[in-house]
Amino acid sequence: MSVERPLEITSLSKAFGPAVPVVKDFSARVQPREIVAILGHSGCGKSTVLSIIAGLQDATQGGVVIDGREISGPGLDRAMVFQSPSLLPSLTALGNVLLAVEQAYPKNTRRQCREIAQRYLDLVGIGEYATQKPRELSQGTQQRVAIARAFSMEPRFLLLDEPFGMLDSITRCELQDLLLELWTAKPRTIILVTHDVDEALFLSDRIILMTDGPEARVGTEIQVGLPRPRSRAALTELPEYFGMRNEVIEFLESHSKQFKQ
Ligand SMILES: Nc1ncnc2c1ncn2[C@@H]1O[C@H](COP(=O)(O)OP(=O)(O)OP(=O)(O)O)[C@@H](O)[C@H]1O
Ligand SMILES: [Mg+2]
Repeated sequence: MSVERPLEITSLSKAFGPAVPVVKDFSARVQPREIVAILGHSGCGKSTVLSIIAGLQDATQGGVVIDGREISGPGLDRAMVFQSPSLLPSLTALGNVLLAVEQAYPKNTRRQCREIAQRYLDLVGIGEYATQKPRELSQGTQQRVAIARAFSMEPRFLLLDEPFGMLDSITRCELQDLLLELWTAKPRTIILVTHDVDEALFLSDRIILMTDGPEARVGTEIQVGLPRPRSRAALTELPEYFGMRNEVIEFLESHSKQFKQ
């Protein structure tokens, strides 16, 4: 029987051309079914790290190891959600999810795939919008489609790059709750890039704080370890919540600068 191994990021460095590397010696380990937030200042290299994990970019040095093997490109084991929903405008909501489902389950009939796609739209609460095109949908609804698309592939790793960054605060909270509901129903590894401290604390098991770039790397890690299921109201009554919140903010305000070149 095989035991699931953590995803390992091993001394990852990324340089764009001859410039000083944006990210240097970034190392981290993500356990199966863990929710890890990567947090850091704008421009420090969070998206760069995530897109290398997704296999969308190559590392200059080091890499990402899954099951003992270094990844060499994108794979169906990893699905990504971006800040903007990035849906195909010519397809309906269902069509966008269907495209992913057909990729993930090439042996299924088209009808089976449609059923799966519809089920995921229902799951994220927008089943009735299945036949609508992205331009007819609100930003929040479009992002629900993107989340349905990612989950419908049943990926082992969900890679989220500021997925709620463009949403108003109420929709943002709704989608954070939705993400936790989906994760609770079927836990899977989530790597979430964000620069929202409360979002990181609410969602994650652990926060990886990045130093500022260039040559950004892991500055420190915070084990969140707050009880689940989580509710915002209950969390803010926990003294340790504010302790961790302050720790993150202090890091972002001061500590990160000392590594700057
Ligand atoms: N394709 C590229 N070519 C050159 N430089 C790049 C490229 N992609 C990213 N960079 C640079 O690398 C650095 C890190 O960018 P990245 O997008 O990873 O940061 P980020 O932490 O995700 O920022 P944000 O929080 O604003 O999304 C930035 O200085 C950016 O200008
Ligand atoms: Mg980014």
